[in-house]
Amino acid sequence: MPNNNAVLGLKCRVCGKLYGKTAQFFCPDDSGPLEVAYDYDAIKPTVSRAKFAARPRNMWRYRELLPLDGEPTVGPQVGGTPLVRADRLADALGVERLWIKNDAVNFPTLSFKDRVVSVALSKARELGMRMVGCASTGNLANSVAALAASAGLETVILVPADLERTKIFGTAVYGAKVVKVAGTYDQVNRLCTQIVMKYGWGFVNVNLRPFYAEGSKTVGFEIAEDLGWRFPQHVVSPMAGGALIGKIYKAFTELSRLGIVDQPVTTKMYGAQAAGCNPISDCVKSNRERHKPIRTPNTICKSLAIGDPADGYFAAQLIKSTGGWAEDVTDAEIVEGMQLLARTEGIFAETAGGTTLAVAKKLIEQGRIPRNEEIVICVTGNGLKTQDCVFDALDEPSTIKPALAEFEELAGLAAETREPALV
Ligand SMILES: Cc1ncc(COP(=O)(O)O)c(C=O)c1O
Ligand SMILES: [Zn+2]
Repeated sequence: MPNNNAVLGLKCRVCGKLYGKTAQFFCPDDSGPLEVAYDYDAIKPTVSRAKFAARPRNMWRYRELLPLDGEPTVGPQVGGTPLVRADRLADALGVERLWIKNDAVNFPTLSFKDRVVSVALSKARELGMRMVGCASTGNLANSVAALAASAGLETVILVPADLERTKIFGTAVYGAKVVKVAGTYDQVNRLCTQIVMKYGWGFVNVNLRPFYAEGSKTVGFEIAEDLGWRFPQHVVSPMAGGALIGKIYKAFTELSRLGIVDQPVTTKMYGAQAAGCNPISDCVKSNRERHKPIRTPNTICKSLAIGDPADGYFAAQLIKSTGGWAEDVTDAEIVEGMQLLARTEGIFAETAGGTTLAVAKKLIEQGRIPRNEEIVICVTGNGLKTQDCVFDALDEPSTIKPALAEFEELAGLAAETREPALV
C-alpha cells in the first residue's frame, strides 16, 4: 500500500498528540476526538487552481486535501454539485446575493453523506476491512449501503426504529443488513461503538470518523471554487453531529493557507437545527460552554435528530469564534421552508434543507445576517426521501372526467370569456 507522506496521522483535538493512520477514534489519554493532520508545506507545491480545475468535476479534484494514502476506490463520481444563484428566493427573503449549495442532487444517494462515505470506505479498503457499517439518522444509511454495494463490501447498518420508511427501505434495497433499534440515535450510536470495540468492523462514523469527516470539506472547496476562488460572507449549515459546519470552515482555512484563495477567511458560520432537537443551537444561544444533551428528540427533521452530538462542542465554539450564530425552527417552519425553496427555486429539499432555509430566514429577520451581504445556504438532502412531511401541507389535486368542460369549470374559465387560442 502506498504511503501519502503529506497525511501525517490523526491528532487529538484536546491534547494535540499525534497517532498513526489507523481506525482509531479517540485519544487514550483524555478521550479527545481525533482529526486528520496534514503537512501543508508538503502539499503547497503540489496544488493549484489550474490543477484542480483540469480534473473531472467531482470531490476528488481536491484529493491532495483528503486523507487517503492511495487513489480513491469508492465513489469516484461523488460531489461536484451545483452552487445555484437563487435570485427568486433572495427576493422572497429580502436579501441581495444568495446561493444554494445543492447537495440534494449528490450522486449516488442524493445527500452530502456520499462525500463522507466515499472517503471512509476508500480508507476502509486501504485498511483491509471487509465488513463496514454505521449508525445513522437515515441519509448515512442510504449512502453506506449504496457505496458499499458498489465496492463489494459487506454492510450492517443500525438505525432508530422510528426512521422514515423511505430511508429504511432505501437502505435495504442495496442488500445491506439493516437493523432497527428501539431507541434514540444516541442509543444506536453507543451500541455501534460496542460492536466496533468487540469486532473491529469499519463503522464509518465511529472508528473511521476522523477520515469520514474530512469528506465534508469538499462542500467548502466547491463553494469557494464556484464563487471564483472567493469565500462568501455568510454560510448557513445544518447541524446534526456538528461535523459538516466545522469542515466547511476548515476547507476555507486550508484554501487560504495554501494560497489557493488569496484572502483570509472572514466568513461567519451559522448553524441550523430543529426546535425538537436543538442541543447545539441552544448551547450557542444560551452562551453555555458545552451543550446539554437532548434525551428524547421530537421533530419531523429526523436526519438532524442527534441529541448528544459528537462534534457539538467544536461546532458551538466555531460559530461563536467566527461571529456567526445558531437558531432552531419548529416543524411547521421546516415544512414552510421546504415549500418556499421548492416554489422559488425548483429545489425539493428534505426536512434538513427546510430547517436550514427556515433558520436562514429567521436570522435575516433578526438582523443577524445583513441583507446586503453574500449568503450561501447549504441544502444537504433530497425531498423525495421525506415526502410524507409535506403531503399534509399540500391540497389534494382535484380529479375530473376527461372532458374539456369539466377542466374549464375547474380552472375558472367561464364559457363566454374563453379565448379559443388558449384552449
Ligand atoms: C441531510 C443532512 N444534513 C446535514 C446533516 C448534518 O451533518 P453533521 O452530522 O456533520 O452535522 C446530516 C446528518 O445526518 C444530514 O443527514
Ligand atoms: Zn488527547
